[in-house]
Amino acid sequence: MRRPTVASIELTTHSSEETIARGREIGARLKPRVLVLLSGDLGAGKTTLTKGIVSGIGAATEDEVTSPTFTLVHRYDHEARVYHVDLYRISGLHDLETLGLEDVFSEDAVVIVEWPERFALRVDWPVVRIQLEHVAEDTRRISIVDDENVLR
Ligand SMILES: Nc1ncnc2c1ncn2[C@@H]1O[C@H](COP(=O)(O)OP(=O)(O)OP(=O)(O)O)[C@@H](O)[C@H]1O
Ligand SMILES: [Mg+2]
Repeated sequence: MRRPTVASIELTTHSSEETIARGREIGARLKPRVLVLLSGDLGAGKTTLTKGIVSGIGAATEDEVTSPTFTLVHRYDHEARVYHVDLYRISGLHDLETLGLEDVFSEDAVVIVEWPERFALRVDWPVVRIQLEHVAEDTRRISIVDDENVLR
């Protein structure tokens, strides 16, 4: 009997540059119509990792990627399309609807979401779950769960 394989990857980085480099490797493996969920406390490194992911996808350079803390959604659209969403300030369905995410999920894009536990998005796209933990000043643990073998 074949069982679904569950790929999980654990890595540790010791600087934001190293986190960006790991993000770039992840991004290079992502093709449109993937949802990337980034969990972790404030300052864990979700936006930093996103800089690498977006640049690995080819949607923007790492310097162009900034936190969507107040704007809530950023779109990067060079060689491929990425939406970077921050749900930290989303307090309900009404707020979520103002983001216009339904339209986003009909596009050929990669969607990266910070604070995904704030609001459960229902999408039938494959999901990559990434948890970032603050271990020490410049040390972060990054745990990736890739149930659907998106990064294979
Ligand atoms: N190894 C590391 N990986 C990532 N960031 C690091 C690392 N070491 C130090 N940092 C610093 O930690 C901070 C991470 O901030 P970042 O905005 O990426 O966090 P965040 O998880 O997106 O937070 P928020 O929930 O507020 O959006 C940055 O100031 C970064 O320079
Ligand atoms: Mg952030």
